[in-house]
Amino acid sequence: MVSATAEERRKSETKQTGWQPGEVEPLDVGQPYEPVPPPKVHQHQRSGIIPIGNQLYQGDTVETLQSFADDTFDCAITDPPYNIAKKGKKGLAWAFSSHVTMDEQWDAYSTDEYEKFTAAWLSELCRVVKENGNIFIFGSYHNIYTIGAIATRMDLRIVNSIIWAKPNAQPNITCRMFTESTEQVIWICNNTNKKAKKWTYNYQHMKELNGGKQMRNFWEIPVTPKRERVHGKHPSQKPLRVMERLVLAGTNPGDRVVDCFAGSGSTLLACDRLDRRWVGIERDEAYCDIAHRRLDDERRQRRLLKTNT
Ligand SMILES: C[S@@+](CC[C@H](N)C(=O)[O-])C[C@H]1O[C@@H](n2cnc3c(N)ncnc32)[C@H](O)[C@@H]1O
Repeated sequence: MVSATAEERRKSETKQTGWQPGEVEPLDVGQPYEPVPPPKVHQHQRSGIIPIGNQLYQGDTVETLQSFADDTFDCAITDPPYNIAKKGKKGLAWAFSSHVTMDEQWDAYSTDEYEKFTAAWLSELCRVVKENGNIFIFGSYHNIYTIGAIATRMDLRIVNSIIWAKPNAQPNITCRMFTESTEQVIWICNNTNKKAKKWTYNYQHMKELNGGKQMRNFWEIPVTPKRERVHGKHPSQKPLRVMERLVLAGTNPGDRVVDCFAGSGSTLLACDRLDRRWVGIERDEAYCDIAHRRLDDERRQRRLLKTNT
């Protein structure tokens, strides 16, 4: 029997999976939402899929990252699980308020599991982001030291970190400690400490944003406003002001940005507004749905604005 040529194999794979090797159709945000399964790439293929951009994949982050080719993205901005929720237990809750408490099971790991999981996704992320590309990772005191230690062990260059300070953070109900009102962002340049160079930092733009003074790494920005939650609630949704500032600081128009824990799509929305190409990965269908509705609404409003001017 004559074996199939590479071209025949490619055609039959495309037929089975619906994916063109090397590229996928951008998400049409005008269409009703349909979850996008992660692309299927055979293990022996060295180069994976390169999404054109503007695509939200519903699936596991490590598996989906594994299907992308090396050096696919200019930048990553991501907000992994914080490991705040307690396995099998409900978190503390405010009886008479709408404060959001973390008791999500996607956020509950043992310490060992969390370290293994972090090392797995971070090393895949480093493979798919270009050399010297920026990687911004959110965290709180619960997980940021673990992530920082793993990045240090991987000999990644930590450029800086940013403190996002929330002037309207929710009060502490135990009254046994300071009110937690900050989150951190670790800024990594995707290279070793010795070789890291020429990472993107839009210094002038940041300076202008800060009224002509150098931008500091202490950003006082209120928690996500209600108007950004009209399409559904995500317990750790980030405000667009924070996401937009990161996008403006660490990427250029047209750059391809990945968020491998996309949640309600805040990174994707900030990129869409600022003309960066975006790719998101999120496991939960309900969160994908919120992200899609936010993007859809954003584009509808932009279209309206265009026709009215
Ligand atoms: C901290 S939240 C991100 C919130 C996001 N920054 C926003 O503004 O909405 C982390 C997200 O990662 C998702 N997640 C957790 N484990 C995952 C995995 N293994 N693969 C893909 N997504 C995962 C959760 O469903 C959750 O939405």
